[in-house]
This record gives sequence, structure tokens and C-alpha cells, in this order.
Amino acid sequence: MGYSLETTNESTNNSSRTTYKHVQRVAVIGAGVAGLQLAERLRNKSSLEVCIFEKTSKVGGVWSANYADFGLQVPKELYEFPAFPYPKGTAWDKFPKGDQVQEYIEAFVAHFGLNDVIKFDTSVLSLQKLERGWLVTHARNGCDEATTEPYDFVVVATGMYGGASPHIPSAPGKEAFEGDLLHSFHFREREQARGKRVVVVGGGKSAVDCAVAAVKGGADEVTLLFRAAHWPVPRYILNLIPFKFATYSRFGHALLPTHHDVSDLVWWLHALLTPLKWLVWRLVELIFRLQFQIPGEMLPNSRIEIDVFTGGQILTYEARDMINAGKLKLCRDAIERYTPTGIELQQQRGGRASIDCDLVVYGTGFKKSYDYFEPAVQAALQIQRDGLYLYRSMLPVGVPDLAFLGAEVSTFNNILTHGLQAAWLARVLSGDVALPAAGAMQRSVETEMHWKRTWMPPTSARASIQQLHMPKYHDKLVEDMGFAACRKSNPLFEAMLPYNARDYRALFGLPDRTLWMRLKTAAVLLALLLPPLLAAVACVGIYLLPEEPPSAFAKDTSGEAANMDEPLVARQASPVRAGVVRHRVRAALAAAYRTL
Ligand SMILES: Cc1cc2nc3c(=O)[nH]c(=O)nc-3n(C[C@H](O)[C@H](O)[C@H](O)COP(=O)(O)OP(=O)(O)OC[C@H]3O[C@@H](n4cnc5c(N)ncnc54)[C@H](O)[C@@H]3O)c2cc1C
Ligand SMILES: NC(=O)c1ccc[n+]([C@@H]2O[C@H](COP(=O)([O-])OP(=O)(O)OC[C@H]3O[C@@H](n4cnc5c(N)ncnc54)[C@H](OP(=O)(O)O)[C@@H]3O)[C@@H](O)[C@H]2O)c1
Repeated sequence: MGYSLETTNESTNNSSRTTYKHVQRVAVIGAGVAGLQLAERLRNKSSLEVCIFEKTSKVGGVWSANYADFGLQVPKELYEFPAFPYPKGTAWDKFPKGDQVQEYIEAFVAHFGLNDVIKFDTSVLSLQKLERGWLVTHARNGCDEATTEPYDFVVVATGMYGGASPHIPSAPGKEAFEGDLLHSFHFREREQARGKRVVVVGGGKSAVDCAVAAVKGGADEVTLLFRAAHWPVPRYILNLIPFKFATYSRFGHALLPTHHDVSDLVWWLHALLTPLKWLVWRLVELIFRLQFQIPGEMLPNSRIEIDVFTGGQILTYEARDMINAGKLKLCRDAIERYTPTGIELQQQRGGRASIDCDLVVYGTGFKKSYDYFEPAVQAALQIQRDGLYLYRSMLPVGVPDLAFLGAEVSTFNNILTHGLQAAWLARVLSGDVALPAAGAMQRSVETEMHWKRTWMPPTSARASIQQLHMPKYHDKLVEDMGFAACRKSNPLFEAMLPYNARDYRALFGLPDRTLWMRLKTAAVLLALLLPPLLAAVACVGIYLLPEEPPSAFAKDTSGEAANMDEPLVARQASPVRAGVVRHRVRAALAAAYRTL
């Protein structure tokens, strides 16, 4: 047993393929939604021993503790475990707050009995590369003694936005400042702002949320200090259409800057339709400007279809209303230095040279550290100024027996992305998914890197950003696993309806509702043959039918999940089982759908 780089003499090139036959023991670092979903998937492989190291006393990662009033920015159906829908019997909010998301995550852990594979209050301190696998050094909190153990494979699931690595930009004079300095992660209660003059630094989601919380907490004065404004996305476009129809559908995806991985036909279509795409986005900007009544100093410089790739923020109107009411001040500038009583600004715009304050909250994001790797491994990872480029945003081509799960990827539906990554990685480790040769993986990584660098904003996280290109990323993972990427029941839904975790349930052994959806579609088509009034009534009736199929129409795949050697999806069966011809027809249809 052991890591193997099997050398295959392929006719076209001499290349090496990575296999994981040696893997018996897997160490996962982090019990957030990424690490937990991987443990759930790996537990399906009885031969693999999994241990999650979690440095806090709780599961949930960012959801176990964060800034005042934090919560989901998306409705709950867009933040759902694909293997575990929100349990019935609890009145979940449409936009759950942090404590509800945490409750849901804990329910996932209890349902799959994962607590016994987690070593809580235990930090991984270093990873030392062995010829085969890793030596993992970990220590219990407050304990001087560290333990070192061998593992065959290590998965880093330490997150993108964890409190362990808050980014606080330096500025001279900090020591002399007589007020308090906090990162957003430590601004836990609104009341920390009560009676204070507060400056919140940053233009991202955390900064805006903290500024709103400070106003609500009874601060005397709150200023949002930002160097660049970003486009806010409303929960409902024109106060009518849920944003998910634009951002999570294939139609919305087709309006984005063209992905590199498209056919020639699709590329030409994109090229031809570029002026139309451009016009649509200008219209979107206009709508959002009006909806948020964006003041001049908050108007972003970058186009919205590019700006959403710096993070993206879905906002309520709270900040807008506070700005209009004069409760939240705006200042587009940056800190030059601290004084004992406040901050001096760099540009001194609007006649403001300084701001007196008692509390500065940094909503300036998070930074990464790879210090737990030896220098040789850090070099082999080829960490770039814009991040860590990995095969399928998970595997470093030059460092075997290592994966990053959730830690080097960011989408608009992270919990689903992590779920699909976990399913993919579990199948790679079990040998169900064969990796391409190292050279091909490296080429894939470089193609993505060059493509991103041609248009995506140059942030330190660019390598991990998928954001609204997530449909393409999810498609790749699903296709690698041998399933069709298109998961809706008909081409219209495929193009127009938002994608969410429910579309992938069957991959995780949950009942498949496709037949039920198809029946509903057929009923709508038949209803359209009726006179208009009757047709309308029939369509409303069909719309009101439950989303979940009655048991007679549900294909139960749960039994299949227990045995991952069997295909998990019945309606999109594996090529081996259903025959190559059928698979090819499906693949051709899928390609046609995507072209649409
Ligand atoms: C306030 C907030 C709101 C968000 N809202 C959304 C949203 O609406 N939609 C969305 O898609 N995404 C959202 N996100 C992004 C969110 O980060 C992801 O959705 C997801 O929860 C990340 O999970 P994770 O497991 O990758 O990382 P984390 O949740 O960060 O978990 C990482 C875990 O690793 C542990 N750890 C770190 N280092 C070590 C170590 N050395 N040893 C042992 N353990 C370690 C940490 O303690 C932590 O528990 C939000 C993020 C924040 C901060
Ligand atoms: N409720 C939610 O769903 C929720 C809540 C919070 C966070 N999140 C997600 O978590 C991620 C992190 O969000 P975040 O807001 O914490 O971080 P972020 O998106 O990385 O934003 C950091 C902000 O800090 C600014 N900044 C960074 N360095 C600076 C410096 N040296 N001086 C001045 N300003 C500086 C950045 O400015 P520039 O823009 O100029 O670079 C940016 O506006 C995002 O993906 C976000 O969507 C989600």
C-alpha cells in the first residue's frame, strides 16, 4: 500500500496517472460544511477510516460563531446539503440567521452520526510529507504536547472565510489609538457599538452588515469607509423576481463573460450576442441603481457582470434606508494613519481629513496561510499572487495525497459546491473516478488560470473564485462522476429555472423526483390546449401541487447510496450499466440543452 504514481506508456505520450489504492486513513482538517460532507461521503466507503480535526468545540465553522446579526444572504433552498434537506418539523426562516444554519448543520451531523469521527478542540499544527501520505501533527487546545500520526491522505477543509485568519490592514499609529479595533469576525454583539462613534472599513458584505448592526446597536455615529464600491444585488429584482432566476439559472449563466470550456458553436454564439449581453447588464445596473437608490459615492466603477466575481453581496434595503435617513455615513477613502482620537484619511475627499471615532471594525476579509506545510511543499504547490490554482479547484497536481475541499473555491452556493466536491473526491479516492494524466491536469489548471487572468478582477482569491460560473464547475464535477450535467426534467426548465441542491439529490441517494416533474410538465402542456380561462385555472392547480413527489412517483435511490459501487442516479444511469449508445444520446441531448 502507498501512494503510487503509476507510469502508463500511452501511445501518444508517456504520462503518469495518480491512483489512490493505498489510501486507508484520511485526515480531514476542519468540521465546517465542507469537511463534514466529505466525512459523510467517505463513511459510505467502509474501508476508509476518517478523522476530522476541528480546533473549536463545535461543528459548523463560520456558522458556529460570527459577527452580530449574521445569516444567510440567500434563501434557504440555495443553501442546503444535497444529501440532507432541511428537516421537517422546524419552522426554518426563508433567510435563516446564523443560529438556524448552525442548528441545521448540527442536525446533519446527528443524522449521519458524524460526531464520533471528529476530534474537537484539536488544531492541526503541521503537515509533513512522507513518500506515501503525511505525518499530521496536532495538539489539543491548551495542551503543550503535540501528537504526530501518519495518514495516507490529507484533506484541507479549513474554509475561505474563517476567523483564524482575519485580514487587518496595517496603518501607522495604531498603538496610539485610544479606541478599540476589531475584525468583523469579533464584532459579535450589536451592543459593542452602543454610544460609540464607529468606523467600519471595507465595501464587502461583512462591512455593510456590520455597519447596519452598529446603527441598530445604538452607535452615536457610523461611517462606512471603503476604497471601492461594489454592486449590491437585491433579493427580488424589481421587487418582484427572486434574484435566483437571474443568477442561478443557465440562462443567467449564458449572459456572463464566456467560459473557456465551451464548444466552438457556443463560443461563436456568445461572440455574436456580446452586444445584447452588454445591453442586458446595463439594464440590470440601471434597475439595481434605482432599487437601491445608489448615491454617487457608492456607485461602483466596475461593470456588474465583472464585479460579482469579487465576492458579490445580496442586500436588503436596510443599509439604503439608513443612508437615506443620515444614520449611516459613507466615505470613499482609506486610512492614512491613526491618531489617538481617530483616523486620518488618504484622499481627504469631501473636505473630511479625519474622522474621530471610538471603534474601528475591519470588514476587510480574510487571508490565507500555508505555513503548516514545509517550505518544499509550499514551493510545489506553486502558490500565486492571485491564489492557489488546483485541478477541479481541489487537487494540487505537484503534491500527491493532498486535496483542498471548500478551502480554495467560492461560489454562490458553497454548501452545494462542497457537497459535489465531496462526492467527487470520495469517488476519486475509491477509484470510481479515474484522474487524467498529470500533464493533462496541469494543462487544465493552466487554461483556467490564463482565462481568469484575462478578465477577472485581480484579487488575492482569484484562483478560487467560481461565483456565478458555478454551473459550469458543477457540470464538470458531475460529468467526471459519470452523470449527465443537465438535471432538470425538460429543456425549458433546464434553461430558465435556478439550480439548487435538490437537482443533485439523486447523486446522494435521495428519492429522484424527475418523473413527478415530467408528469407536471406534461399536465401543463395538455392544459394549454384548453380554453384560456380553464388553462389558467389548470396551470395554477398544477403549480399548487406539492414539489415533492407522492411515493408512487418517487424513485428511491437511498438503497443504492449505501453501495457506492452502484450508480446513484437512476434516471441518468451510468454508461456502463445503461449502454454506451444510450449514454451518448443523453450526452448529445445534454450538450444541445446547454447550447440553448
Ligand atoms: C458571515 C458569512 C455568511 C456567509 N453566507 C453565505 C451564503 O449565504 N451562501 C454561501 O454560499 N456562502 C456563504 N458564506 C461562505 C461560507 O464560508 C461557506 O458557505 C461555508 O460555510 C464554508 O464552509 P467550510 O467548511 O469550507 O469552512 P469554515 O466554515 O470556515 O470551516 C472551517 C473549519 O476548519 C477549522 N479549522 C481551521 N484551521 C484548523 C486547524 N489548523 N486545525 C483544525 N481545525 C481547523 C475551523 O475551526 C472551522 O471549523 C458565508 C460566510 C460568512 C463568513
Ligand atoms: N450573509 C452572507 O451571506 C455573507 C456575509 C459575510 C460574508 N459573506 C461572504 O464571505 C466572503 C467574504 O466577505 P467579506 O465581506 O468578509 O470580505 P471580502 O468580500 O473579501 O471584502 C473585503 C473588503 O475589504 C476591503 N479591503 C481589503 N483590504 C483592504 C485594505 N487594505 N484597505 C481598505 N479596504 C480593504 C475590500 O476592498 P476592495 O473591494 O477594494 O478590495 C473589500 O471591500 C464573501 O464571499 C461574502 O460573500 C457572506
